[in-house]
Amino acid sequence: MSILDKHAILEKNTSLLFLGSLLVVTIGGIVEIAPLFYLENTIEKVEGMRPYSPLELAGRNIYVREGCYVCHSQMIRPFKDEVERYGHYSLAAESMYDHPFQWGSKRTGPDLARVGDRYSNEWHVQHLSEPRDVVPESIMPSYSYLKETPLKVTNVQMDLKANRMVGVPYSDEMVELAAADLAAQADPNADTSGLLARYPKAKVGDFDGNPAQLTEMDALIAYLQMLGTLVDFSTYDDATGYR
Ligand code: HEC
Repeated sequence: MSILDKHAILEKNTSLLFLGSLLVVTIGGIVEIAPLFYLENTIEKVEGMRPYSPLELAGRNIYVREGCYVCHSQMIRPFKDEVERYGHYSLAAESMYDHPFQWGSKRTGPDLARVGDRYSNEWHVQHLSEPRDVVPESIMPSYSYLKETPLKVTNVQMDLKANRMVGVPYSDEMVELAAADLAAQADPNADTSGLLARYPKAKVGDFDGNPAQLTEMDALIAYLQMLGTLVDFSTYDDATGYR
C-alpha cells in the first residue's frame, strides 16, 4: 500500500481524520506550552519599570472606565513611521504591570503609549474638558465632568492588593501607605521623599489646576503624564536591553 492509499483511509473516515487532527494539534500545543513551565520569566526585565503609584493607578481605572482604549492604543509597533511619530517602539516589559493591558485594537485617536511629558498639565485639562478648544477638528468627546468629580480614595488599598494578587510586586509598605502616597502626589506642598523612593519618577503636583479639590481629572492626568516615561531609552540597547 502506497503512502497515498494509507492517507486515503484517513481522508475517507471522518472519525479517524478527527482523531488524527486532534493528535497533531495536541502535539503542537504541547510543544508550544510545555517550555513555558520551565522558563522563570517570559518577559525581559527592563530597568526603570515599577508598579503604578496609587494616584496613577486610580487614573488608570478612570481611563478604563471611560473607555479611552476604544479610541486609543498603547502599543507602538516597531515600524519606521510609528517610531518616528511616537518614539521608541513599546517593550513587553512596559506593560508587565498592566492588569488588564491597554494595547487597544483601534486608533481613532493617536497612540498614547508615550504621551507622558508631551503636553503640560494645563493642556490636558483643557483638552479633556473640551478637545475642540485645542484641536478644532477633534472628534474626541468632552470629559469636563472629571474636573468636578471628587476622586474616591476609599478603595485604594484594596486596589493595590488586587493587583498584588495577580503578580504586581506591591510591598506591605506600599499598601499601607497607599492613601497617603495618593494624596501626596497631587499636593505640590507635600513631603514626597517617601513617595518618590517607592515610585521613582512619579510626577508630583496639582494636575487639574484646582488645588482645593482632589478630582478624577487629577488622577487621570497623573496617569497620562507618566505613560512611556519610566524606561530611559538613552540607556536602553535594543540588542541586549542594557548599554
Ligand atoms: C471617540 C474616540 C475617542 C475617545 C473615546 C477618546 N479619545 Fe482621545 N483622542 C481622539 C482623537 C480623534 C484625538 C486626536 C485629536 C485631538 O487631539 O483631540 C485624541 C487625542 C487625545 C490625546 C492627545 C494625543 C496626542 O498625542 O496628541 C490625548 C492625551 C487623549 N486623546 C486622551 C484621551 C483620554 C484620556 C480619553 C478617555 C478619557 C480619550 N482620549 C478618549 C479620540 C478619542
